[in-house]
Amino acid sequence: MGWLRDRFRVPSPAPLRDIARHFNEVAPDEQHYPSHIDPRIYHVRLILDFFGDLQGQRVLDVGAGKGRFARVLKERHPGASLYALDLAEAMLAYVPGGIHACAASMTAIPFASSSFDCAYATESLEHAVDIEGAVAEICRVVRPGGRIVVIDKNRRHWGRLQTPPWETWFRRRALERMLARHCASVSSRPVSYWEDVPPDGLFLAWLAIK
Ligand SMILES: C[S@@+](CC[C@H](N)C(=O)[O-])C[C@H]1O[C@@H](n2cnc3c(N)ncnc32)[C@H](O)[C@@H]1O
Repeated sequence: MGWLRDRFRVPSPAPLRDIARHFNEVAPDEQHYPSHIDPRIYHVRLILDFFGDLQGQRVLDVGAGKGRFARVLKERHPGASLYALDLAEAMLAYVPGGIHACAASMTAIPFASSSFDCAYATESLEHAVDIEGAVAEICRVVRPGGRIVVIDKNRRHWGRLQTPPWETWFRRRALERMLARHCASVSSRPVSYWEDVPPDGLFLAWLAIK
């Protein structure tokens, strides 16, 4: 049945506790799960550019891991309130001081509706299993007019990397449609790591305004 799952991309129904256990176990692996990111990497710059001035804003990093993106956002915008939400407490142990850490699933975000100005998910939505549920939750906690970024992998490149059985990669238009159920404007584009290197198609960024 593995071939069937690979062909049609039906994620295996791994319970959240198994996914949490996996990420708790791999958290010490700094090579694959780094706690820092070079702020010149285009994934970071895209989020910074799209969000703009974050003074006094509440920003949620969804599936934050060790908070490497949140660290940069907080450094650039000390007046913003950054929240790092992740399923794995061992990941959150690396989140730097000054950023609120929250152990929870993005499919049941423990914050009030419209309580954030911005939210982003980098290489984490792919692990949510209930993708529609996670997208609905991310959009729920962002206020009308607030901004959302998802950066994740392109289903057209499935097979390029090893993946755990529950992982999903996304078709550009399918995730656009999912976001558009909750947001007023949605666009997407291929993104590369470095601005001066053309995208190879593996990563896509979805930008939405609720
Ligand atoms: C590949 S890491 C990416 C971490 C971070 N966004 C980054 O770019 O450094 C994926 C993260 O998603 C988290 N995750 C997986 N399923 C989740 C869920 N349902 N809710 C919240 N976080 C989840 C994992 O624990 C892990 O830290």
